[in-house]
Amino acid sequence: MTDLRLEALSASTAAAANSLTLKPGQEQFVQPTTYGVAESDVKPSSAWTRVVLDGDRVVGMIIGTFDEDNAEEELRSAIWRVNVAADAQGRGVGRFAVHGLADEARSRGLERLTVVYEPGGDSGPEAFFRALGFEVVRETQYGDHFAALAL
Ligand SMILES: CC(C)(COP(=O)(O)OP(=O)(O)OC[C@H]1O[C@@H](n2cnc3c(N)ncnc32)[C@H](O)[C@@H]1OP(=O)(O)O)[C@@H](O)C(=O)NCCC(=O)NCCS
Repeated sequence: MTDLRLEALSASTAAAANSLTLKPGQEQFVQPTTYGVAESDVKPSSAWTRVVLDGDRVVGMIIGTFDEDNAEEELRSAIWRVNVAADAQGRGVGRFAVHGLADEARSRGLERLTVVYEPGGDSGPEAFFRALGFEVVRETQYGDHFAALAL
């Protein structure tokens, strides 16, 4: 895929972004328990949401959250969601989306981008984040990994 681009969410892409079909077994990894518990601590104004378009088709979406003063370390400069359509996976869409978010973090003067994910499982995203250079900082109290990418 050479024609990927990121766009802000619009009326015409929102429905497609919200109904991306993942591979069987992946749904359980979309929101790790740590993020589920922290959801009410995320300020809506801190969200940075983009869809990934391949031509006219929405093939992925990413939501970042930027809130440097948040009491929760996990919510200061983070990937909150990243999803890629099942039939578009394995072709660099997820990497493209995360790099776009990392560029945004850099432009805000931030020195790292973090993520929380549930480790293990054949369908989980652990290998993806490791391939992108994220390093595990610690395990959360719910057994998720809190990992960071130096920018
Ligand atoms: C995780 C996810 C976003 C990856 O998207 P993707 O477009 O398939 O990933 P990419 O094609 O950009 O892969 C980038 C790198 O990660 C590696 N990778 C991705 N998924 C992998 C897997 N399941 N196993 C091993 N390596 C994997 C790729 O091989 C590639 O490495 P390389 O460039 O060294 O070859 C996608 O699988 C997904 O939407 N999963 C369900 C939702 C989810 O778990 N989100 C994360 C919540 S925290």
